[in-house]
Amino acid sequence: MDWGMSNRISRMIKPTTGRSVMLACDHGYFMGPTRKLENPRETIDPLIPYADTLAVTRGVLRTSVDPKWDTPILLRVSGGASILKEDLSDEEITTSMREALRLNAAAVAISIFVGTPHEKQSLVNLSRLVDEGEDYGMPVMAITAVGKELEKRDAKYLALACRLGAEIGARIVKTYYCENFSKVANGSPVPLVVAGGPKLNTETDVFNLVHNALDEGAVGVDMGRNIWQNDHPVAMIKAIRSIVHEKATVKEAVDIFNENKKAGAHGR
Ligand code: R5P
Repeated sequence: MDWGMSNRISRMIKPTTGRSVMLACDHGYFMGPTRKLENPRETIDPLIPYADTLAVTRGVLRTSVDPKWDTPILLRVSGGASILKEDLSDEEITTSMREALRLNAAAVAISIFVGTPHEKQSLVNLSRLVDEGEDYGMPVMAITAVGKELEKRDAKYLALACRLGAEIGARIVKTYYCENFSKVANGSPVPLVVAGGPKLNTETDVFNLVHNALDEGAVGVDMGRNIWQNDHPVAMIKAIRSIVHEKATVKEAVDIFNENKKAGAHGR
């Protein structure tokens, strides 16, 4: 692997543990002002010290992220559909590689919509982005998007979608956790991180998801709503970090969450 490519990946997936806590704040690109991400700077600011990578669009990066922060940026470069559309799969590449380089992105991210009306378009978009990314040493993350069909999140579908992303050349794939996740992880020759999806009922549910995903082969999380829609987002991300980087158990993560919640952890 070229030095630039390798260095960029090492900035996101920490070589000391081989794992990563990515903070996902790119929801606005199709969902608009998502609850508790209405003002991105207010959401991101307290959490950034605990994120190994921040996932955003260029609009949020320019307006809401201080260029003096040194957290690596995972730049969302696909879009073109909004939550108002039934079919969210009609995406194109919305940000050029030149722009990603100008913004000093550590990686670029694009959704693929396997099994949808725009499957081919999204896979060809990925392949073009990979061709350009490889020219410049820019890792591409493929995101196995399910649009509104959350029930698609099973091992058979996700193993297929992740493998397609890796075969086309993504250096990292973001997917969902599911039952039999090891089947998904075993079928992917590149590292996988998991999203959290819509907010779960309890913190323990989130910690179980993270713990199981890592146990079954993920290298980390790229998580948003289950962190910043929680009433105690800093306590949440610190507890998740303990699982990802310190191999904390779910019970230990609950204790860390409760201690930080009690202490009123506010980040920076
Ligand atoms: C969708 O908007 C993005 O790919 C999100 O970054 C991804 O779904 C992760 O965020 P969450 O944990 O909220 O699902």
